[in-house]
Amino acid sequence: MSTSPRKPRVFSGMRPSGTATIGNYLGAIRNWVAQQAEYDNLFCIVDLHALDTLTDPNEMRDNIHGLAATMFAAGLDPEIAPLFAQSDVPQHAELTWTLSAVTQFGELSRMTQFKDKTAGKSDAAINSSMFFYPVLMASDILLYDSDLVPVGDDQRQHVELTRDIANRFNARYGETFVVPKADIKEVGARIMSLQEPTKKMSKTDPNVNSFIALSDESDVIKRKIKRAVTDSDARVAASPDKPAVSNLMQIYGILADMSLSEVEDHFAGKGYGPFKAELTDLLVESLAPIHENLRMFAANPDEVTRRLEDGAAKARVLAEAKMSDVNRKTGVGGKLHR
Ligand code: TYM
Repeated sequence: MSTSPRKPRVFSGMRPSGTATIGNYLGAIRNWVAQQAEYDNLFCIVDLHALDTLTDPNEMRDNIHGLAATMFAAGLDPEIAPLFAQSDVPQHAELTWTLSAVTQFGELSRMTQFKDKTAGKSDAAINSSMFFYPVLMASDILLYDSDLVPVGDDQRQHVELTRDIANRFNARYGETFVVPKADIKEVGARIMSLQEPTKKMSKTDPNVNSFIALSDESDVIKRKIKRAVTDSDARVAASPDKPAVSNLMQIYGILADMSLSEVEDHFAGKGYGPFKAELTDLLVESLAPIHENLRMFAANPDEVTRRLEDGAAKARVLAEAKMSDVNRKTGVGGKLHR
């Protein structure tokens, strides 16, 4: 009898700190869905990671639920890709503490995202959770023996740090954690703001015109694309000195399944007006099935809760086993478990 080899474990997460954007979709969710049948998946709404910015408990609850509905609406199949809320599995927080003992202050200080988010702020305005954030992220990943972590480009450094933490723990206590790899696609890994194309598109950007939310209706999409900044000449061409148009072309290319040069050929001699009109139509068309599913979940919110509870039950089994192994290895606890 032949046994089929174990499928690689995929783990990824998203903060419920706002509404999911097309950046989140093109850089992450879409890839999770496209490859879910190939892997043994777990996806997580990382609510503890959002405590930093989200201080209203009702908003927290609504966002967790809303983001879960969006992920299911985008095609995540809970049978093969369980989704759960991070805080429903207490071992994430527990392992964070253990891993902090093999994480250096200097490493955390060097994280680009930490430096960007805290630039110009006084010490009193910076929560330590912002500093500690990558250790919690490492726990999310390492708790499940994850092989691959499909993320956008902004998370690359955090996955690198996770690898260092895993290697250091393994060296000190013996083989315990799988050392994961980031899975970052060549296209879509860095969708930029529609207003400031040198900045990443972000769901927490106070300027709502800078991003397109997956829930945006057609009139909103039309307005945001119309207002999206372009570059000085009128050519639809991708180049480093045309970051605004290059970004819009990238979005178009992914959704139309075309390379940047095909997009360029398609719009040769046409200018920004027709390009923006076609991009708007393509976005509206691409998001229509997600909107239809979202309406279905809005009419049946208990189904979303049920799926999250199911997901947490599956994750908990794995997390409990891993955490006992870790505690046995480090020797903590009152039991003489040798
Ligand atoms: P978050 O919630 O900021 O984003 C979720 C995912 O979306 C990707 N992404 C983008 N991709 C392309 N262009 C963009 N403009 C863009 N904005 C966001 C992110 O790279 C990410 O893949 N720290 C993580 C959440 C996290 C996590 C984890 C991820 C916590 N634990 C464990 C993987 C594994 C974050 O803040 O993602």
